[in-house]
Amino acid sequence: MTLHTSYWPPERTDEGVREAAAALAAGGVVAFPTETVYGLGGDARNADAVARIFAAKGRPSDNPLIVHLASAEEAAALASSISPLERKLMERFWPGPLTLVLPVRAGAVSERVTAGLDTVAVRVPAHELARRLIAASGCPVAAPSANRSGRPSPTRAAHVLEDLAGRIDGVLDGGPTGIGVESTVVRVLGGEIHVLRPGGATAEQLREAAGEDGVVKAEPAAAKEGEAAPEAPRSPGVKYTHYAPKGDMAIVTASDPGRLREALQQAADTERARGRRVGILACDEHAGAYRADAVLGLGPRAKPERAAQALYAALRECDERGIEFILAEGYPEDGIGAALMNRMRKASGGRVIAV
Ligand code: TXA
Ligand code: MG
Repeated sequence: MTLHTSYWPPERTDEGVREAAAALAAGGVVAFPTETVYGLGGDARNADAVARIFAAKGRPSDNPLIVHLASAEEAAALASSISPLERKLMERFWPGPLTLVLPVRAGAVSERVTAGLDTVAVRVPAHELARRLIAASGCPVAAPSANRSGRPSPTRAAHVLEDLAGRIDGVLDGGPTGIGVESTVVRVLGGEIHVLRPGGATAEQLREAAGEDGVVKAEPAAAKEGEAAPEAPRSPGVKYTHYAPKGDMAIVTASDPGRLREALQQAADTERARGRRVGILACDEHAGAYRADAVLGLGPRAKPERAAQALYAALRECDERGIEFILAEGYPEDGIGAALMNRMRKASGGRVIAV
């Protein structure tokens, strides 16, 4: 099915919010900015609308969606129960980049949203346009990232159109998104906060918010071959390859910045000698010194939040420039660095050159 995709530019967002909200209420699917990445929204109660989201993205139907709400009060209508620790996290992080996986209230959303699980993922986004749109639509809005499945998540309206023009009803342009990587997904079980996907809300912030009331458990490692599946809760989404650029990719890490530069340049030279077009993603301090077919600065080394913001656009740019091999500098894994490195590892299929 080919659709006409409306585009509402930043200077016409009043009209955009009105028309996009009407489209959502009528069972349409529209993309909108959140503080993390752009989402592709549809009425979470409407099975046909949700089916259109999966079809537009080419997403496997066993990967459930996050339901976006305009305010925390609405969570009670979706969840069959909310524990005091979950309530505390909502108060501390919403609106913001934290998704809570809660026991679902029967019949509150289409079973396509939850992929038949007995839980539903919920968040209140912090982006003003997102909240205005959700409130005006009057719907709980199911919204995965607005990319074709397997592509990097969109951090600009142009990325959404690249992937989904002609497949969705419209896109609201709110400019580049602030955080640039997706929300942190957590499940609270018996006083333990299990991080199913690291993201915009950091482990340090979660620990601080939980205080004496909760323990934060990092993302469970995938089961190795021949081992039993881990018992900690997992997110269906983690088993899929994500954020894959067209070319191959490797991350280069070193304890010493001088060694890092040397090793990365050497790897780049080796690949180029084999006739491959090489792209380098590096901090601004190092970017000027590298030689490759494309060198993209991700911001100052001491500001991983800038690299998180820039990563997906940089991966898309490498694709556009015909890059066949990407070498990316690794970042320290504290704060937002954990989510940044998680996404880099997924994009590279776990290939790390450690020197
Ligand atoms: O920042 C974000 O979270 C963005 C914006 C648009 O809000 N959305 C997003 O959605 O990243 P998506 O569909 O790309 O990723 C949702 C993740 C997937 O890994 C999915 O498996 C997990 O959340 N998830 C959804 N419902 C779940 C559930 N009931 N139990 C466990 N994991 C769930
Ligand atoms: Mg996604």
